[in-house]
Amino acid sequence: MVQLALPKNSRVQKGRHHPAPAGAKNVKTFRIYRYDPEGNENPRWDTYDVDVDACGPMVLDVLIHIKNEIDPTLAFRRSCREGVCGSCAMNIGGRNTLACTHGHDETHGSACQISPLPHMPVVKDLIPDLTMFYAQYASIEPWLHTETPEPQKEWRQTPEDREKLDGLYECILCACCSTSCPSYWWNGDKYLGPAALLHAYRWLIDSRDEATGERLDELEDPFKLYRCHTIMNCAQVCPKGLNPAKAIGEIKKMLVDRVV
Ligand code: SF4
Ligand code: SF4
Ligand code: FES
Repeated sequence: MVQLALPKNSRVQKGRHHPAPAGAKNVKTFRIYRYDPEGNENPRWDTYDVDVDACGPMVLDVLIHIKNEIDPTLAFRRSCREGVCGSCAMNIGGRNTLACTHGHDETHGSACQISPLPHMPVVKDLIPDLTMFYAQYASIEPWLHTETPEPQKEWRQTPEDREKLDGLYECILCACCSTSCPSYWWNGDKYLGPAALLHAYRWLIDSRDEATGERLDELEDPFKLYRCHTIMNCAQVCPKGLNPAKAIGEIKKMLVDRVV
């Protein structure tokens, strides 16, 4: 059984409070969403008063400190700790971002609220179920499609054509954008969402790809592409500074251009 992440939870259980250690001078409160598929207090908000002088500067450092020193039951994903793998994406202080690049002093006030990426099924605590997100990424077939015989060494590309991939290839598939998109919240099973569409555009404009027509055919659908209403949440939250909304607009333009 999985729980749907905020903001769809209606009845929240009373959480547990973990006070700061005696003598702590620089205490910040972290209010953290908890969900245990095998527990019976679901969901609940636990509060942790943390001596931030004992942690590194990022929210991920605080979570690791809580897990190591206060509450080993807390579950979250992380790997690279430097904004490269995308696995620590979560909602911090009301905004989707990466815990490893977001400073705990960047959230205003003495308390900081942390929850899983919104409107996704939750596996446990801060871990969302990204099965559908990855399936949508796979559905755009994120690899080179070619018909001409494979060259002996490599598929060549001019520096100018290579430049067209800038602002697209850097995506780390963290899902911050898709899970901040209201259209994706309401139609996540049919609308591909900003992350998958950004990647769709990355392959559409790759000068080496020879399946542009087929790729556009696949996207010409009232739900897969046209549920984007240019609300721009995606571009505002992307921790890599990318603009999925612009890429979606470019795909729409390509579809218009091919019928003119
Ligand atoms: S611009 Fe499109 S993809 Fe981005 S948040 Fe808005 S509706 Fe979603
Ligand atoms: S476009 Fe940005 S926010 Fe969206 S998945 Fe890629 S890196 Fe994350
Ligand atoms: S741990 Fe890899 S992006 Fe945060």
